[in-house]
Amino acid sequence: YPIFAQQSYENPREATGRIVCSNCHLAKKLVDIEVPQSVLPNTVFEAVVKIPYDMQIKQVLANGKKGALNVGAVLILPEGFELAPPDRIPPDTKEKIGNLYFQAYRPNKNNILVIGPVPGKKYSEIVFPILSPDPALNKETHFLKYPIYVGGNRGRGQIYPDGSKSNNTVYNASATGRVSKISRKEKGGYEITVENTLDGRSVVDTVPPGPELIISEGESIKVDQPLTNNPNVGGFGQGDAEVVPQDPLRVQGLLLFLASVTIAQIFLVLKKKQFEKVQLAEMNF
Ligand code: HEM
Repeated sequence: YPIFAQQSYENPREATGRIVCSNCHLAKKLVDIEVPQSVLPNTVFEAVVKIPYDMQIKQVLANGKKGALNVGAVLILPEGFELAPPDRIPPDTKEKIGNLYFQAYRPNKNNILVIGPVPGKKYSEIVFPILSPDPALNKETHFLKYPIYVGGNRGRGQIYPDGSKSNNTVYNASATGRVSKISRKEKGGYEITVENTLDGRSVVDTVPPGPELIISEGESIKVDQPLTNNPNVGGFGQGDAEVVPQDPLRVQGLLLFLASVTIAQIFLVLKKKQFEKVQLAEMNF
């Protein structure tokens, strides 16, 4: 969950560029982000994050039963950008946002937003309403190109913040030996007794409800060999985009320049026509 990241990491993006969700959401899957190429100062725009997956598939839940996947995301905006205040969000954007409730990653980090978990069926495409800064008021921002980073996830993670495994991952043998006994636990899951054939000592590996066993009694196994399949169907992905806070003066300047070029061209043609007339008048036959 994004809250696990908020509790454990000051900054969701590591120096290497890796987004911290991937520390616990181990499978890699695609995400996509769409933002306008440039935005005017103090303007609301949409950042669209897509977290696609096959809606037909189900994942193992904490109790071992199967269920639908949820999605979540973290959006790292340039300094000065923030969540648009509700009264400035246009109605059509509001409709696309639905009932989503975005949060700042930290109370003092308004440029980093998190969302989730929310049902993936409804929100595999998440629209973030963003307010661009005004460089005239905010001296930190300039009319330059800035990167936007996104991390998006569908499905449950593999590791809890305390380091323990979730039941949405593969379980491995902790010793080499022979599987002497597999017993089903009352609430689901298995206890697998592995007997060391050399010294006769045995260890018991516990598998929670969820993953399916791929070994059977009597089989010889090696340490770290998978005892179960990997039930994880979800995954995390990250991406980036670029946005330019656009100075209206720049656009006006460009228009002015283009107009002056057009006018200059027209005058050159007119001058040519005039010169041709003079040439005709001066001709002697
Ligand atoms: C569950 C997103 C960071 C561990 C989830 C779910 C989402 C999500 C959407 C629910 C999945 C579902 O129910 O189908 C994110 C995002 C993160 C993030 C966007 C980064 C901003 C982390 C971190 C950890 C973690 C850092 C580990 C410390 C887990 C675990 C679950 C989970 C163990 C399953 C919980 C359970 O059902 O018992 N996460 N996560 N996540 N996440 Fe994360």
